[in-house]
Amino acid sequence: MKASPILGLALALGLTTSLPLRADDPVAAAREVEQALHLKPNLENGRKVYLLCSVCHQPEGWGTPDGTYPQIAGQFATVTIKQMADIRARNRDNPIMLPFAMTNSLTLQDIADVSYYIEHFPMDPNNGVGPGTDLALGQRLYEENCVDCHGDRGQGVPEKYSPLLQGQHYRYLVRQFELIRDGKRHNADKEMVKQIQTFSDRDIHAVMDYTSRLKPPTEMLALPGYTNPDFPRFWRPITARGPELGMGPGMGMGMSIPD
Ligand code: HEC
Ligand code: HEC
Repeated sequence: MKASPILGLALALGLTTSLPLRADDPVAAAREVEQALHLKPNLENGRKVYLLCSVCHQPEGWGTPDGTYPQIAGQFATVTIKQMADIRARNRDNPIMLPFAMTNSLTLQDIADVSYYIEHFPMDPNNGVGPGTDLALGQRLYEENCVDCHGDRGQGVPEKYSPLLQGQHYRYLVRQFELIRDGKRHNADKEMVKQIQTFSDRDIHAVMDYTSRLKPPTEMLALPGYTNPDFPRFWRPITARGPELGMGPGMGMGMSIPD
């Protein structure tokens, strides 16, 4: 990933002076989630806040099919709020995004607003999937281990902060699954950590390949050629969504502040 444009943006916004000092703090995170869920979302402000996120997650919220940046479009607001709170309390390590999530860059109201704003984004119809070579094993593992908490189609459970997995990029899923299994994602569900301890590398790739192919319902997917109308002048490199995927994030440095 090219760091310089992001660093440039961080510098321009004065974010680098505010690097985290707080330690891993799940209690602070839980308190923020509770408070943010009681705020009344302002979608207009959510759109303004999202400008910051669009640099990495892309204006459509689809992230990148190579999994560097996850798709956040369509994710439950409850899940996004929890992940944001966990990241800023360093209950989930995300050094790339941390400066953009800190308390002095975003208020709790901003977090609530942006989370509800992206919840209704249409989702990427062409998310990154795996090689497709071990899907029978993937399906069996999914049905035996994941359905109770993530639903039979990876549709998640918003009240339990169980994320929407359907339509997520394969490589991002694999990376998170490994972090969770190895106890490196502090905010992980403890039951899930226990349940997946015996998963081999083959199992992980198989189950995540299967999961990445669980499509959201058609009405949640974007139509061909869709771009986020709130970001009409965002510079979208032609190759970023073309056949030569894996081009990287296609940094949106041609972005313009929405009116
Ligand atoms: C500098 C790049 C960058 C910016 C800016 C950024 N993110 Fe992220 N974000 C990431 C990366 C990288 C990850 C995945 C980290 C990992 O692999 O654990 C991520 C992960 C997330 C996740 C977790 C997704 C999941 O499925 O658990 C959420 C939610 C999220 N970002 C929301 C936001 C929002 C909202 C904003 C704007 C306020 C934002 N991000 C700004 C880079 C960024
Ligand atoms: C006991 C319930 C439970 C079980 C069983 C479970 N999960 Fe999870 N999983 C969760 C919860 C809750 C989260 C969100 C944790 C958090 O807040 O970060 C999660 C997070 C994840 C994530 C990270 C998603 C993201 O957007 O970052 C992946 C990937 C995942 N689970 C895959 C699986 C798969 C595949 C299985 C079966 C092999 C499974 N889980 C079994 C409850 C469970």
